[in-house]
Amino acid sequence: MPTPIEDVYDSISDSFDDTRSRPWEFVVDHLKHFTSGQRILDAGCGNGRHAIACLEKGHEVVCSDISEGQLEMARKNCEKYISSGNIEFVKADLLELPFDDNSFDGVMAIAVIHHLKTRPERTKALQELTRVCKPGGKVLVSTWSMNHKRFEPRENGTIRGVEVVGPTDQDVTVAWSKDKDVPEKRFYHLYRSGELTDEAKDLKVELIEENEAFGNCIITLII
Ligand SMILES: C[S@@+](CC[C@H](N)C(=O)[O-])C[C@H]1O[C@@H](n2cnc3c(N)ncnc32)[C@H](O)[C@@H]1O
Repeated sequence: MPTPIEDVYDSISDSFDDTRSRPWEFVVDHLKHFTSGQRILDAGCGNGRHAIACLEKGHEVVCSDISEGQLEMARKNCEKYISSGNIEFVKADLLELPFDDNSFDGVMAIAVIHHLKTRPERTKALQELTRVCKPGGKVLVSTWSMNHKRFEPRENGTIRGVEVVGPTDQDVTVAWSKDKDVPEKRFYHLYRSGELTDEAKDLKVELIEENEAFGNCIITLII
C-alpha cells in the first residue's frame, strides 16, 4: 500500500519548507486581478508561501491543506499576520472542501491536483474549487507538466527518482530527494498540454485559459 499523501507531506514538511521560500511569479502576477481586501482560498497551501503573497497585497486568506504538518509550517511562516485576523487555517481534503458555495473572490490550488490518482478525482477537485468561488471570481490551478526538465530521461531511459506506476507514463511516483531519510514517494499525474482544459470542460465556467510556464501547466477559470 502506498503511503497516503498527507503522511508523506507530514514527514517532509521541514525540508519542503527549506525549498519553497518564495512565491511563484505566475501566482504573484495572478494576484493583480484582485482588489485589496478580497477573500482568497489557497487550497493545498503547503508552507504558506503563496498565502504570504496574498496577505502582502492586503487580501484575506484561508489556507487549507490535507497535511497537518504542512499547515503547522504555514502557521509558523504566517505568524506575524495571524493577529490581523486576515488569515485562517483549515485542515481539509480538496475533494470535499468544508466551505459554502460562492464564498471566495479567488481560489488557487498550486501544484496540488496532480497528486490525485484518477481523472474523476481530479475533475471532482476542479468542481470543488469552482463551487466555492463566487460568480465573476477566478480560480488558478497549476500542475507539473510532462515537459518539466525534471522528467527528461537519462541516457539509459530512466528518470532520476521517478518510477512509472500507472497504465501510462504520466502516472509516476517521485522520491523526495532533499531528505534521504524519508523513503516515501509522492504520487504525481504529469499533465500533457491541454489536459487541464479537457478536465475542466464540463464545469460551469465562463472562460478557460491554459498556458505552460517553467514546467507547469497553468489554468485560469473565470466563474
Ligand atoms: C507540492 S505541494 C504545493 C504546496 C503549495 N501549494 C505551494 O505551491 O508551495 C502540494 C500540497 O498539496 C497538499 N495536498 C495533497 N493532496 C491534497 C488533497 N487531496 N487535499 C488537500 N491538500 C492536498 C499537500 O499536503 C501539499 O501541502
